[in-house]
Amino acid sequence: GQLGMGLAEMLRKQYGTDNVILSDIKKPPPHIFRSGPFVYADVLDYKHLRELIINNQITWLVHYSALLSAVGEANVALARKINITGLHNVLDLALENCLRLFVPSTIGAFGPSSPRDPVPDLCVQRPRTIYGVSKVHGELMGEYLHHKHGLDFRCLRYPGVISVNTPPGGGTTDYAVQIFHDALSTGHHECYLRPDTRLPMMHISDCHRATVEFMQAPECQLSLRTYNIAAMSFTPEEVAQEIRKHLPQLKVTYSPDSVRQTIADSWPVRFDDSNARRDWGWAPAFGLEELVVIKLVYQP
Ligand SMILES: NC(=O)c1ccc[n+]([C@@H]2O[C@H](COP(=O)([O-])OP(=O)(O)OC[C@H]3O[C@@H](n4cnc5c(N)ncnc54)[C@H](O)[C@@H]3O)[C@@H](O)[C@H]2O)c1
Repeated sequence: GQLGMGLAEMLRKQYGTDNVILSDIKKPPPHIFRSGPFVYADVLDYKHLRELIINNQITWLVHYSALLSAVGEANVALARKINITGLHNVLDLALENCLRLFVPSTIGAFGPSSPRDPVPDLCVQRPRTIYGVSKVHGELMGEYLHHKHGLDFRCLRYPGVISVNTPPGGGTTDYAVQIFHDALSTGHHECYLRPDTRLPMMHISDCHRATVEFMQAPECQLSLRTYNIAAMSFTPEEVAQEIRKHLPQLKVTYSPDSVRQTIADSWPVRFDDSNARRDWGWAPAFGLEELVVIKLVYQP
């Protein structure tokens, strides 16, 4: 999906093309198919996953398959299956085969009763979406198996990720990808959130680098198994203002979508990532200004 393809590219540069296998249930674009090993794998098919792990001598597993927040609310039964049953398959296989396992979490793992500005790593988590509920479940199951059976489970709570050329998968922060595309094509963006909706965001290259650095960190450096990571927080109005410094004609209209606005209003506006910075040296490279320059000038 949006994140897997770029992460594979980064890992392949470090570990060799043939040592990183991408998988999905969807046919990938031709350039991805040509870029290295790709296999069909359904997270709901336990036996086939086990066969892939054993036949390919897998040692690390990055589990990205999920239905995201907005798509999940539209299909709760499927989200429950993929995000919870699929995760259980992956956890069991990782334990059985001594894999190092990475599972991402999200700002969506918090809810209206969590502290919002900033939200720390450890606090009340009562999300109101099936996506958030499944992510809290993932955090807890992974940590439980780590403490009880020594599973090398690692989890980062990603902010909204702003990708370069892969389309977003139906999350609440997708507008922050679309606005750049619209600014460069039609010059008009219709935003499904209110102009003052502040959410944590991150450029995709920071997200991939955080993931790789965290996966490589020695176990003894980790005081937690689930960390917040932050880079910037902005509102639609602020990102539009920043884009207008380069494209003054950008027009943004607002037509809040009740599902996504309600989700966004229940999420924190800023992550406290001080534990990640202290334990394994996390530091983002992109703030809002750098993000806008790179999106408009270098990697539209
Ligand atoms: N993109 C973000 O802004 C963001 C933010 C926080 C966390 N995350 C997390 O990062 C991970 C990746 O997100 P993404 O943006 O790449 O999502 P995405 O929707 O683009 O990709 C998810 C992929 O999962 C695949 N999938 C669906 N059902 C499957 C199944 N049964 N078996 C195997 N694969 C299946 C889909 O085909 C899709 O390619 C997710 O776990 C998501 O929760 C993403």
